[in-house]
Amino acid sequence: MSLDIVILAAGQGTRMRSALPKVLHPIAGQSMLAHVLNTARRLKPSSIQVVIGHGAELVREQLAAEDVNFVVQSEQLGTGHAVAQAVPHLTAENTLVLYGDVPLIEAATLESLLKQLSADSMALLTVNLDNPAGYGRIVRNAAGLVQAIVEHKDASPEQLHICEGNTGILAAPRQQLTDWLGRLSNSNAQGEYYLTDIIAMAVTDGLTVATETAVDAMEVQGANDRLQLSELERHYQLRAARRLMAQGITLLDPARFDLRGDVTVGRDVLIDINVILQGRVDIADHVSIGPNCVIKDSILRTGAVIKANSHLDGADVGENADCGPFARLRPGTVLSARAHVGNFVELKNTHLGEDAKAGHLTYLGDSEIGARTNIGAGTITCNYDGVNKSKTIMGTDVFIGSNSSLVAPVNLGDGATTGAGSTITTDVPADALAVGRARQRNLNNWPRPKKR
Ligand code: UD1
Ligand code: CA
Repeated sequence: MSLDIVILAAGQGTRMRSALPKVLHPIAGQSMLAHVLNTARRLKPSSIQVVIGHGAELVREQLAAEDVNFVVQSEQLGTGHAVAQAVPHLTAENTLVLYGDVPLIEAATLESLLKQLSADSMALLTVNLDNPAGYGRIVRNAAGLVQAIVEHKDASPEQLHICEGNTGILAAPRQQLTDWLGRLSNSNAQGEYYLTDIIAMAVTDGLTVATETAVDAMEVQGANDRLQLSELERHYQLRAARRLMAQGITLLDPARFDLRGDVTVGRDVLIDINVILQGRVDIADHVSIGPNCVIKDSILRTGAVIKANSHLDGADVGENADCGPFARLRPGTVLSARAHVGNFVELKNTHLGEDAKAGHLTYLGDSEIGARTNIGAGTITCNYDGVNKSKTIMGTDVFIGSNSSLVAPVNLGDGATTGAGSTITTDVPADALAVGRARQRNLNNWPRPKKR
């Protein structure tokens, strides 16, 4: 079976009260439309058509991709009119209609919907609702067969009691769909070309309207305002949390965990509250992440410990290495096995060797630091002269005294030591002590100034 997918994304989303087109509002750090596109791709369609209108240029800019064709609907005359705009670009046997503002729809649900399709049947995804207000109602005959969809605003008082609602998501053979769309009229309560009117046409043409019911109403819920957006966000997050727990990680509170990207996890990982994972994060076995950490595009190797309030971006934390509380690891940071980074330490483009330590209040940028080297509190690499970035290279077993300034480019050999408070401007040979500070003078019996 070949399939084209049409995603409706032309609406303004007035109730968002936003300059941003509705479908660009994010769930889990990605636009709603991006979620729908990802799900669409999993069905391996022949084409993906996105119908855009409000904020068309912005939507196109943000989601342009080789496998996506944008179709502009310049006036929003209804869902039927929207799908009709894509018709000239459809070539596959069947067409599936999705919505850019229904982001949590899952590929598995769509796959079972598509199984219901045949040459003489179309498929409709419905949902049973406690409060179906606003939804199109599924009208069935005495035998339980679908006859039509009637929109809320066009429904009779009896029809308003129907709790089976239209999700909007449907699939139909392309040729019939094209024909039905050409015959839609807008003589209804809203003066719109309703996609939902094709159901009655299908029945008239002798097709069966097969239905699939969404088990989870949130999966087919659209976001019309920021409250609904937040509800979808929490639902997405809970789903992500459950999936990770099923894979063997402990989340101390699944309600206080946020995934904004992709994560792989090992076993017996422990994640404390208020942790945000962004981009691509790989977490190996026995990793522990303390509360309030933000971890983006990073690798945490077996046994790594990230203590409270740490911020990692583009870091590689080695086996049994640890950092924090309050550590900041910026892009290009590599902590080798058992390396230790303590509180208020910032690293950028820096490789900390095995068992090396930077325990307190330190900035290390553009540095190579050998195994077992110890960086004293308050050490700063002066790696930037306002124009150029330069490297600081230290061998193994170096000992940097507290409050040292290392003016790059500078090289410290294996076993070198710097005296506390030194400003190091030239290379230090292996095993040497470098002291780069004013010598202390004592003025005995110093007459301290007195108040008059
Ligand atoms: C639609 C369905 C209704 C269903 C409900 C589910 C119709 C006529 N009604 O109603 O049966 O229960 O969704 O939420 O289909 N859009 C366009 N161009 C247009 C009009 C709409 O792209 O000209 C897009 C919107 O951006 C939105 C989607 O289509 O993403 C649905 O449009 P909306 O106006 O929200 O339809 P509803 O009235 O909610
Ligand atoms: Ca809607």
